[in-house]
Amino acid sequence: MLEKSMELIDEEGANELLQAQTRVWNHALAFINSMALKCAVQLDIPDAIQNHGKPITLSELVSSLPIHPSKSQHLYRLMRILVHSGIFSLKKEGYSLTPTSRLLLKGNPMSARPLLLFLLDPVPMEPLRCLSTWFRNEDPTAFGTAHGKCIWELAGENARLNNLLNEAMASDGALACGVVMKKCEGVFEGLKSLVDVGGGTGAMAKCIAETFPTMNCIVFDLPHVVSGLQGSDNLKFVEGDMFESVPSADAILLKWILHDWSDEECVKILKQCKEALGRNDKIGGKVIIIDMILGNQNWDEKSTETQLFFDLYIMTCVTGRERSEDEWAKLFIAAGFSNYKINPVLGVRGLIEVYP
Ligand SMILES: C[S@@+](CC[C@H](N)C(=O)[O-])C[C@H]1O[C@@H](n2cnc3c(N)ncnc32)[C@H](O)[C@@H]1O
Repeated sequence: MLEKSMELIDEEGANELLQAQTRVWNHALAFINSMALKCAVQLDIPDAIQNHGKPITLSELVSSLPIHPSKSQHLYRLMRILVHSGIFSLKKEGYSLTPTSRLLLKGNPMSARPLLLFLLDPVPMEPLRCLSTWFRNEDPTAFGTAHGKCIWELAGENARLNNLLNEAMASDGALACGVVMKKCEGVFEGLKSLVDVGGGTGAMAKCIAETFPTMNCIVFDLPHVVSGLQGSDNLKFVEGDMFESVPSADAILLKWILHDWSDEECVKILKQCKEALGRNDKIGGKVIIIDMILGNQNWDEKSTETQLFFDLYIMTCVTGRERSEDEWAKLFIAAGFSNYKINPVLGVRGLIEVYP
């Protein structure tokens, strides 16, 4: 057998073989990037570096973290891979934060930390372990294969998952709203009312309501998400099911909603939104969608990969998908809308205004 393999490999073939082997190893171990980052966040390493106020040496970092003395000798190995992947930087004075790790600080309301901890939680990750089983069975989602129910139902029963999901969405809402208001505030100008459908605990709507104090905003979501939440003068929380009815307003916001649902389900939601706009006195109105638009720009390698990662993650957890512009347009037409405009203002996501 060994002789046979040696006969098959020439010089060039050997190099190709070794390259292929490295690629397979790299792919198989790519989860190490995720897990090392999760560990750093759980140990509060970004905050320890920030609190130090200047670059931190390895021994200073060791003494500032709640790690067992027997593990001190291993910390540099965790830091080495995170420096390699650009999460932290290392100069002779010590470790510093990069823009990536700065986004993982605890106190920052726009922190990506809650989303990271949600994405890498064992509950939403379990479906990924069932992926090949799901491809062979009839279940609508791998989440169902793993947990026996859909994610929204489980979030309604499991307070820990509900909080994890709501906090992840709230921190993203704060960042998204900050960027949208900076880059295309005009989208919201002149609106007297807005409903954030599936608006979670209201981070995005709160930011809109504060930016436009004369606009009446409603956060509409399932009872386990919004019950008991306090609004303000121009912000209300309303419980309900978007498949049954949506409150009417000048504009309806759907942020990170439609990618959770199949085309048929999206058309049902969009029809409810169109019906709600029609019930409003003001003629016209619009739906404002914040979601990914696949292949919308000449993405760099990392952005394309991030979109494709999200698409697979979404495929395992829910019935939805990430969509290209053509796929979005088909949904809008099927739901009876006449026109749309894409604002590519949110990194790998975009903001789409859709008109009845
Ligand atoms: C991915 S989260 C997005 C939250 C928020 N829009 C954001 O981007 O920060 C999806 C939201 O849809 C809500 N949702 C799911 N099914 C719903 C339904 N049938 N009616 C209303 N909201 C629903 C969930 O509770 C959750 O808050």
